[in-house]
Amino acid sequence: MKFVSAIALLGLVAQVTVAGRCPVPPASSASSQSSAPAYSSTPAYSASAPTTDAVPTSAPTPAYTSAAESTAAATSSAVSVPPSSTGSDYTTAVPSSVPSGVFQVKAADLDRAVPARVGDGNCSARPTECASNARALSAINKALQKYNITRRSEAVAILSLMAQESADWMFNINHYPEPGRPGQGTRNMMFYNFVEEYAKSLHPEQANALLGAGGEPSDSTKNAVRELVLNDDDSFASGFWFLTHKASSFYNNPAKLIEGSEASFEDYIVNGIGTSMSDTRRQYWNVFNSIITA
Ligand SMILES: *[C@@H]1O[C@H](CO)[C@@H](O)[C@H](O)[C@H]1NC(C)=O
Ligand SMILES: *[C@@H]1O[C@H](CO)[C@@H](O)[C@H](O)[C@H]1NC(C)=O
Repeated sequence: MKFVSAIALLGLVAQVTVAGRCPVPPASSASSQSSAPAYSSTPAYSASAPTTDAVPTSAPTPAYTSAAESTAAATSSAVSVPPSSTGSDYTTAVPSSVPSGVFQVKAADLDRAVPARVGDGNCSARPTECASNARALSAINKALQKYNITRRSEAVAILSLMAQESADWMFNINHYPEPGRPGQGTRNMMFYNFVEEYAKSLHPEQANALLGAGGEPSDSTKNAVRELVLNDDDSFASGFWFLTHKASSFYNNPAKLIEGSEASFEDYIVNGIGTSMSDTRRQYWNVFNSIITA
């Protein structure tokens, strides 16, 4: 196993240990975590073109796919991304003006849920993309306010999804199959079509200037549009944007994403973002569900 995969594995094992729930997967299945498909039934890291991604025809267009590494060689071909915003003070990450009812994540909870990114985050393997929990927390809590997330179940679902897709905040853009799908990224690895929609909504002038008159953007244009939303505040908010704008029937709906319900999470994975459930997703959800407190 290559070293970056090992990091993700260590994080997972640590999470499972903390949570005291899911059994630690055997090495063989753990190693498949880094080579198994995340949002499709086609291996995400094979040489297959993105168009071969198999998704249920009845499901909406899949939004994401895992960025987890299958090879350390990619570190040498890391795509240049803009510097992320500076980490904020851990102790003041939760603004004092949070409207009542908006869910907020506690620093200690996030550290328990994502032990791989405690402190400075041990991010030296991929410094341009990797973020510590302190950085993540600040951006996540702002996003919870921005999108008015009031239910713990929604926060748990989206956070576990983003942590899994980004390999514990290791990745900000898609890398596999190498060199990665142009334009795909943010912490929940949305496909380019959603990245473009998100970037246009947040940074319309810059996005429109890059996109010009229309037509299919070049790969470099897709990457430039993606860069508009790779800053921490936008990138860590993308999962909540998707919930509230692209899968809004799951937002604030008492019949959806029911508190503590793994089946509800699976419903979101399958019918909200349009992909299939996996053991890894289930493990991440169980960790966040058992650790994140109201
Ligand atoms: C930090 O990351 C390196 C790989 O870059 C890994 O070998 C090491 O075990 C990690 N340390 C911790 C404390 O997670
Ligand atoms: C946020 O959501 C809650 C729960 O649905 C609702 O009561 C509240 O009015 C919303 N706040 C805003 C600013 O939309």
